[in-house]
Amino acid sequence: MNPTESSTITRSNRKRLHVITWGCQMNVYDSARMADVLAPLGYAPAETPDGADMVILNTCHIRDKAAEKVFSELGRLRRLKESRAAEGGRMILAVAGCVAQAEGQEILTRAPYVDLVLGPQTYHRLPEMVARAARAGGAVIDTEFPAEQKFDHLPDEAAPQGLTAFLTIQEGCDKFCSFCVVPYTRGAEQSRPAAAVLAEARRLVAQGSLELTLLGQNVNAWRAEGPDGRDWGLGRLLRALAEIPGLKRLRYTTSHPRDMDEALIAAHRDLPMLMPFLHLPVQSGSDRILAAMNRKHTAADYLRVVERLRAARPDLALSSDFIVGHPGETEADFAATLALVREVRFAQAFSFKYSPRPGTPAAGAPAQVAEADKDRRLQALQALLREQQAAFNAGCVGLTLPVLFTGPGRHPGQVVGRSPFLQPVHVTGSAGLIGVEESVRIAAAHPNSLSGTPLQEKLRA
Ligand code: 5AD
Ligand code: SF4
Repeated sequence: MNPTESSTITRSNRKRLHVITWGCQMNVYDSARMADVLAPLGYAPAETPDGADMVILNTCHIRDKAAEKVFSELGRLRRLKESRAAEGGRMILAVAGCVAQAEGQEILTRAPYVDLVLGPQTYHRLPEMVARAARAGGAVIDTEFPAEQKFDHLPDEAAPQGLTAFLTIQEGCDKFCSFCVVPYTRGAEQSRPAAAVLAEARRLVAQGSLELTLLGQNVNAWRAEGPDGRDWGLGRLLRALAEIPGLKRLRYTTSHPRDMDEALIAAHRDLPMLMPFLHLPVQSGSDRILAAMNRKHTAADYLRVVERLRAARPDLALSSDFIVGHPGETEADFAATLALVREVRFAQAFSFKYSPRPGTPAAGAPAQVAEADKDRRLQALQALLREQQAAFNAGCVGLTLPVLFTGPGRHPGQVVGRSPFLQPVHVTGSAGLIGVEESVRIAAAHPNSLSGTPLQEKLRA
């Protein structure tokens, strides 16, 4: 909340808002924007749900486990809501995000004490929904895909995000991969206009952010009219963002291999501040399964994109998502995935067992893979990916890397930041490092992080 807003809120109408977030970075960003739209109504962030006037669960529907967690959390919150009511207070309980979008009515059936159910496209209408819930007492449900764009309706005033900030530039997906709920929960691809993106980026930098990560379900499908009236793609947008004075680092996530165009690859070549780390999910290394997944690229297409990217930016570190046990996946298909991993050499990756999502084409496919086979394949894939991550981290030892320090480390006297490759880097150093990018000599590699010594003597502990 900024000072102007807080001065208009008196003590008596100050309310406490607790938001619990699951899932992707888009949800993290959306949670912050929900807090922004509620700030003018007097809601200030609360660390815990105890005694909160409103609790929002911002949910993820991507896999079954993620969705089930929401219902167990709701059970716990029900007790808090009841004890609040026994004290004469009221806790508004809201379910937002992709579970809300996909299972709106089901939530109210399983958890009738929920007051609000809202899909990701309707957050700008949250104040109105809160007012309706407060008046009516009954549940309010809003999971439409409204014609007006959510992007146009979010407030300009946003709480500062700190040294590293997220900026949503694109939402939704039209790709309809066989296994994925995103096209159903987030709707069609929508790009935020370039001028709005640039204005928010300038504001974030003015508020102290040194690193911006552009977000979108399909961020590299971003396409909009630029301030020059021309059609811009992500490569062009990155060039414009790179000119903002004071901004040090740019990243974007998540990308689809099909949308890695020449201009975007050239941005990796030409913009030193575009960090050499790219999350580019491939899902499988088997052409048969990629076709069944409706990915619209082959393993060779993916390898070719990687080759072009590495030609443009030789130190580029790659990350990916994998699914094992998609319907129809044989041992030979899985072997093709391992072969692709060996060829690419990933710096890190996420891998999942296929989880049937109701309403998606793969959920109804006949050739479901046995759980035991999924388990075994996941373990084998993860062992290989861990090995590659360890090798990548070990390869950083002895290098001097610029690290953007963001906060205190786990132990007293430690400070932590991120390398260009997104690895956490711990150093023993002065708190004066926080908020600066400094060269660090990497001394040791750990499974998920690095440690080292700042080059500048005065910054050491
Ligand atoms: N089962 C397992 N993993 C899934 N993902 C998406 N849908 C499913 C599913 N039904 C994974 C994909 C995607 C990541 C965000 O989650 O790998 O890239
Ligand atoms: Fe889901 Fe595929 Fe779209 Fe990614 S590209 S959000 S996996 S449908």
